Amino acid sequence: MILALETSCDDTCAAVISPGGEIRSNVVASQGLLHERYGGVVPEIASRRHLEVVDAVTSDALERAAVSLDDVDRVAVTQGPGLIGALLVGLSSAKALAAARGLPLVPVDHLHGHVVASTLEPDPIERPYGCLVASGGHTFLARVEEPSSYRVLGQTLDDAAGEAFDKGARLLGLGYPGGPAIDRFARDGDPEAFRFPRSLPGEGLDLSFSGLKTSLLYRLRDLGEEEVAARRADLAASYQRAIVDALAARIEQAIAEERLERLAIGGGVAANSELRRVLGERCRRSGVGLWAPPLALCTDNAAMIAAAARHLVPLPYPEYLALDAAARLGPEATRAAA
Ligand code: KG4
Ligand code: ZN
Repeated sequence: MILALETSCDDTCAAVISPGGEIRSNVVASQGLLHERYGGVVPEIASRRHLEVVDAVTSDALERAAVSLDDVDRVAVTQGPGLIGALLVGLSSAKALAAARGLPLVPVDHLHGHVVASTLEPDPIERPYGCLVASGGHTFLARVEEPSSYRVLGQTLDDAAGEAFDKGARLLGLGYPGGPAIDRFARDGDPEAFRFPRSLPGEGLDLSFSGLKTSLLYRLRDLGEEEVAARRADLAASYQRAIVDALAARIEQAIAEERLERLAIGGGVAANSELRRVLGERCRRSGVGLWAPPLALCTDNAAMIAAAARHLVPLPYPEYLALDAAARLGPEATRAAA
């Protein structure tokens, strides 16, 4: 059994999975309401709340899985990327749990977790496959040959797709988190009512969303308050269409260039109903298998961290005691170094 902890942002998560990839439990204590009044995650508040609930969340995960710590063979934990204080809480707890029993520990790249979320039972994706990870902090396309790693094919050069949803929603006065709000409003709107830019920088598979947000800002100024209020649904639908179009365009390009037969999507934006509809249609048309896992596996969770840990070499006790959390890791670090 693998016990995994994930505390990279504002959700305290613990999960137990079997070596075969069956999810025995997947517990998430969300801090959403705590941060809502600030319109975004406040790092210090997130760390403190993780500290308060991480033990209870871990016990809950073990209880729901009907196992005890004696049944656990290895402990996995998110090492990064994420909020450093938040990461440290999970890492310290995981070290303590593992060290107390002399268990091995597996440090996991959070983004690797998102990439392999679709490899869990009951419907694991076969390799090789392509994967879109689009969340509030990250947006990239990857190719997976071996489950122990992934190759980044392209990534956003500025804002993440979820960030574009969140910032757009704030401009439209739709509250936080913005993705679900825009998704909801867009259902009653006309996606062709306004034209927003689809930025596809370069020949490769990179993306960019910061221009889109600026273009919404200018459009709202031009329209004026009354008109904006009257056409909020049209604005939400058109803005959402621009994000989905850009993602879908790069995905289609990746499928063609990489000759992909299977595509997985993950990250909070994978919950977007328009994205699911568009990708569903296009994949059906081109005979590509689409894995859009249940929402609980798309948003931050510890089952995906355990999924990645199945394929990584664990560090024996006491080697991992000196391990540090890393605010940047994976493609994040690559981009920072570039
Ligand atoms: O993966 P996630 O839960 O947390 C991280 O950022 O790691 O993703 C959260 C992001 C937020 O930006 C939120 O607005 C977006 O996912 N999101 C959505 C939807 N549900 C959540 N974006 C578009 N449509 C949705 N239905
Ligand atoms: Zn995430």
